[in-house]
This record gives sequence, structure tokens and C-alpha cells, in this order.
Amino acid sequence: MEFRAVKGMKDILPDEVGRFALIEAAFRRAVELHGFSEARTPLLEPTELFARSTGETSEIVEKQMFSLLKESESLTLRPEGTPGIVRAFLNNSVHAKEPITRWYYVGAMFRAENTQRGRQRQFHQAGCEVFGDAGPVVDAEMIDMLVGFLGQIGIEDVEVRINSVGGVATRQKYREALLGHLTPKKDKLSEHAQKRLLDNPLRILDSKNPLDREAVKDAPSILDVLEPDDRAHWDGVRAALEALGTKYIIDSSLVRGLDYYTRTVFELVSNQGGLGSQNTVLGGGRYDGMVQALGGPNLPAIGFAAGMERLLLASPLQATAREQRCFIAPLGQAALHESLVVARELRAAGIGTDLDGRGASMKSMLRRADSLGARVCLVIGDSEVQSKQVQIKDLASHTQEMCARSEVLSAVSKVLASTPKPSEAKS
Ligand code: HAM
Repeated sequence: MEFRAVKGMKDILPDEVGRFALIEAAFRRAVELHGFSEARTPLLEPTELFARSTGETSEIVEKQMFSLLKESESLTLRPEGTPGIVRAFLNNSVHAKEPITRWYYVGAMFRAENTQRGRQRQFHQAGCEVFGDAGPVVDAEMIDMLVGFLGQIGIEDVEVRINSVGGVATRQKYREALLGHLTPKKDKLSEHAQKRLLDNPLRILDSKNPLDREAVKDAPSILDVLEPDDRAHWDGVRAALEALGTKYIIDSSLVRGLDYYTRTVFELVSNQGGLGSQNTVLGGGRYDGMVQALGGPNLPAIGFAAGMERLLLASPLQATAREQRCFIAPLGQAALHESLVVARELRAAGIGTDLDGRGASMKSMLRRADSLGARVCLVIGDSEVQSKQVQIKDLASHTQEMCARSEVLSAVSKVLASTPKPSEAKS
């Protein structure tokens, strides 16, 4: 019997890990420049945490959680990062120590979804949360940071969609207006939307079902019924985005799939990398009620999460073709032993070194050096051992020279520090 990875969960092999690391490093750089610090929370949380925050009527809590019972306690593999971050923030009374907190996280999330390109059951999110800042400037600053970050990883065609879902009073009023519009069309709605009509009619706005799309086409807009303080916040977000010159599209049907949002919600979409229907590379918004709902003070919050796999699909970034590594190709037994010592010297000096001890032909060793992406190859034969010399090949510039065995470290360092001429460089 051959074991396979669990449906929707993927092995990430070294090549791809290289690209993950590149994008993750760009993310960390971007958010740390904006004052975010990393927090790491457990993969398993009490199931009830998600029911109380992500929301009973969200698809995630309704049917996508990987839950288990351990000693009669129900635990769930986190389907998103925000609830665990809020729990950690409260458990550690961080709000009592600082007025504003900016945290970020990167890690695996789990949702039992139907899998397709850009949608997995285990995936990775990179996200940020801000506590204690009611905005609206921070809302715009976050969106602008994200457009900048995506640009840095080569995702240039980004469309920023924003909306306001208001506070409790606005939503109550809008719910009535929406029900007034949809109830007479009830029979024309999908079965799923008919159920939503009772528990969360706003979610019908972002249904992909053509029946529902037709029914909501001329529905009233939540932006027309914002309460004065929600309107002031909404106007403030747009004014700050305009001050920054950040382009955006207002999408009054954007409600997001999680129940906790208040006021600003946003999604950034890219069509690079053939993402198709899963082209939302990141999404987020304000959730001013969650901290209090989880037993904390009345503290505003805003955040987002990006799907790492979607960023990887959309970004053209590649790990550099040639690494600052050295490859040693020994020819003969004495050369092999000498090579062991040279490799140890280079590694002790901080130079990543691969030694080919197979006793393979020169041709096949050079092919391997190339596939490992090494910049330098040292060729050591038994005759070189005798003459206390080493042959150094610069694999990027296609040049080679002999050097004294005693000079090998400085000679390799010199090649690694040099820039190959573009005309000579091999991609
Ligand atoms: P979300 O919209 O559920 O929001 O997920 C954020 C991003 O994670 C999505 O835009 C997508 O790129 C990625 N994602 C979600 N599900 C999958 C999947 N099954 N496979 C691959 N990628 C996926 C949240 O999770 C909120 N916690 C964001 C947030 C933080 N709001 C406030 N703070």
C-alpha cells in the first residue's frame, strides 16, 4: 500500500520552499518597516473560539473545520489566524501594556474546502492585525502597504476592492432593507441563499450562484444607509487612500465570508499566474467587536491575511539561478581525501560547499554542479594533490584558472564576490 498526502494537502519540496522563503522574506521586510512584530500561536485552538469569532453562520464554521475530540475537549486546527491572535492578545493582557499593538504571523491554516488551483485544505497565510487604532487612517495605510508589498514581489496588476459593512446599527438597518428587497424574490433564490435569508442575508450579496446574482442585481447598497459615524469613517478611509494616491474600486457587494467584520472590508485581486476564480490574493477588514466578544475590553481592530500559495502562483519571483555555493569535483582517491579537507575549510569560512564523493565522471559531476546552481566548481585530481594546486571554475562566467592549494579560500571568495558579466552569465 502506498501512502498519499491527505486530500488538499501538499508536500512542499525544496525548490518551492526556496520561492516560499523569498516571498515570506519580502513580506516580513514590508510589514516590519510598518512596525509589525511577529507572534506565533498554536495550530490547535478550542473549537468554541472559532464559533464565537469567525461566526456560526460562516461557511468555515458550518462545514470546513478539521475538529477532533481529546479528553472530551473539542479542538480545531485553525482555519484562519485572527481568532488565535486575539485570544493570545487577551490571555497575555497586551492591551494593558501598550495602547496600540501591531502583530503579524505566517503559518499553516486548515479548511476542508473543495480543492482547486489556489484553494487547498492545508494552506499558508501571512497576515497582520492592529489592535487599539480606530482608524480610518490605519485602514488606508494597511491597504497601501499591501499594494506596495505585492509590487515588490512582482504582482503589478492588483485591483483593490473596498466596501464598508458599517457597525451594528447600520447593519441592522441594511438587513431590513435587503430583506425587503429579497423576500418577494425568495422562490427565485438558490436553496443556500434561502437559508441565508434567515440567518445572514448579507452573505447573499457575494453568492456566485447565477440565480442569487440576478436577485441582488438591483438590491439597495449598504453605502446608502451608513449611520453618520460609519459614514465619517468610510469618507476618512477614502480621503486617506486618495492622499496616498492608492487606486481602489468601491464594491458595495463585498461582504467577506467571515462574520466578524465591521466598517472597512477589502480584498486585493490579481489575475497574474492564472488564478482564475481564486484570484483574491488577500483579504481583510476591520473587526471592532471581536476583542470584546471574546471577553476583552471594547477595543477596535483591523487586519488582513494573504494566501501564500496564491502569492506564489501570481508572483514571477524566482530564486536566483546561481547560489553563492562551491562544488568540489574530486578525481581519484587521494583527491577525494584532500577534497574532504578543502570542503571543511570552506564551510568553516561560511561558504556553502557540496562535495561529490560518488567517484563519478567529470562530465556528470559538472552536470550536478550546474543543477545545484553552484557558482564555483573546484576540480581536484590526484596530480593536483601532488602539485599542491586546485583548478577553480567560475560557472557563471565560464572561466577557469589554477591556484595554489594554500590560496584556495581567498580564490573562491574572490569569485563569489565578483559579478559575472551579463553577456557571460548563464541564466
Ligand atoms: P480569508 O479571506 O478567509 O480571511 O483568507 C485570506 C486569504 O487566505 C484569502 O484571500 C486567500 O488568499 C487565502 N485563502 C483562504 N482560504 C484558502 C484556501 N483554502 N487555500 C488557499 N488559500 C486560501 C481570513 O482568513 C481573515 N483571517 C483575514 C483577516 C485578518 N481579517 C482580519 N484580520
